[in-house]
Amino acid sequence: MTLLVNAIKTKYYKVAFHTRSVRHLNSVAVGDSKSEGDAPLVIGSSRALLQKLGTQVEVRPAFITEEEEGALLLELEAGLKKKRYEFDHWDDAIHGFRETERLTWSEGCQAILTRVRSVAFASGSSLLGPVHVLDLDKSGYIKPHIDSVKFCGSTISGLSLLSDSVMRLVKEDSQNEWLDLLLPRRSLYILRDQARYDFTHEILKDEVSTFNGHRVPRQRRISVICRSLPS
Ligand code: OGA
Ligand code: MN
Repeated sequence: MTLLVNAIKTKYYKVAFHTRSVRHLNSVAVGDSKSEGDAPLVIGSSRALLQKLGTQVEVRPAFITEEEEGALLLELEAGLKKKRYEFDHWDDAIHGFRETERLTWSEGCQAILTRVRSVAFASGSSLLGPVHVLDLDKSGYIKPHIDSVKFCGSTISGLSLLSDSVMRLVKEDSQNEWLDLLLPRRSLYILRDQARYDFTHEILKDEVSTFNGHRVPRQRRISVICRSLPS
């Protein structure tokens, strides 16, 4: 079991990996003009950055229903429960997590994943076969990292189950350029191209989980992640 976990970790996170980013206090949060409804789901250090990355960062709230979330959980929970959360030493990319990969799904869940793939990936692009499932404990979090370019292509998409969370993107070579994404429970996020290659991404820990000045309490969170293959 340890071997499998290590293998997954190595595959996705053996990456250029960075110390925690410092946000410059003089950065201004600007709402994403594209978001629907009242509150923006993406804010950033400047309007220009939001415009530049507008098509490369997407958050789709309520992408799945409560029933669909339940179906995914039902299918995943038994396998995850057999594993213990790992609280590894400080330099690992993820703290307080267990994970698995899944290639075959029930019909209902397969239909959800087909929908994810159809909105997130260009038709005809090759995807990583197994779906990556990451279960973060309430105290778990993901440190800033860039997914391995050796194993993952230009698009990463993820469903968030069980909890709202905040994903932070920080430009690797210019740390005062950043975006924060509010990932509501049952939403889908998509990172493409520069947003995926030139920015680190992270999931904030509960203590510092805020979006646009508002606290976003973090519960246990399971993400279901689809990735394209490197071309
Ligand atoms: C990852 C990652 C984000 C998420 O596994 O590389 O960044 O939504 N996950 O869990
Ligand atoms: Mn990642």
